[in-house]
Amino acid sequence: MRLMHVDASPKQSLSNSKQLSAYFVNQLTQQLPDLEIDYLDLSIDTPPHVSGDFAKATYTPADQRTVAMKETLAYSDQLCARIMMSDLLVFAMPMYNFSMPSCFKAFIDNLVRTNLTYTFNADGSTSGTLTRQKVIFITSRGADLRPGLSPWSHMDALTPALKAPFAFMGVEHPVFVDAQPLQFSDQTAREAALDRAYTALNAAANTWLNQLQKTQ
Ligand SMILES: Cc1cc2nc3c(=O)[nH]c(=O)nc-3n(C[C@H](O)[C@H](O)[C@H](O)COP(=O)(O)O)c2cc1C
Repeated sequence: MRLMHVDASPKQSLSNSKQLSAYFVNQLTQQLPDLEIDYLDLSIDTPPHVSGDFAKATYTPADQRTVAMKETLAYSDQLCARIMMSDLLVFAMPMYNFSMPSCFKAFIDNLVRTNLTYTFNADGSTSGTLTRQKVIFITSRGADLRPGLSPWSHMDALTPALKAPFAFMGVEHPVFVDAQPLQFSDQTAREAALDRAYTALNAAANTWLNQLQKTQ
């Protein structure tokens, strides 16, 4: 079984989201010692932004692509392959300006690909291909955006911006663990936020482990 672990914070050991994702992956590896881990730090290995050449190449049918177009799509092809061959997907990131860090957006832009992560049906509708993968998003936020708890609650543009493209790629029920407030609050509130996040991560790891046990 293979797990892809993707972090997006540019902070290293002091990163909240990185500590939380490492904890979650560790909970799984303790029970699944043979789990193969594919790690990607998007703040270091940042995917290329969509270029004009990419926009043209990605919508050109595969059998009509030139050598140059294939080269343009090579990074994205490889990224899609890594995701599609994974069984478990762990994505962690801080909230930046109410949405995601730009490196994670570049990651998504390289991942949504016709005939790889989604296909067209005969009637023109689309089907995502990431239907078998279990997905968790772990986000860290400075403020507390839980509904009704702060003046910023309605500004959470991160959750829908993650849900939509992954739903398009076939991910129907991703797990979200949002650690908040981790910065714009007092120490007591930060500690309580981390406690809630670790409790939710333990529960999510147990759920995955139980489900995996049943399918084996
Ligand atoms: C550039 C930048 C933008 C941020 N924007 C927000 C924001 O819109 N809302 C929020 O709640 N926190 C915001 N924060 C705070 C971070 O989300 C918070 O500190 C988080 O815990 C950082 O996670 P990390 O330690 O994994 O990098 C921002 C931080 C930075 C550096």
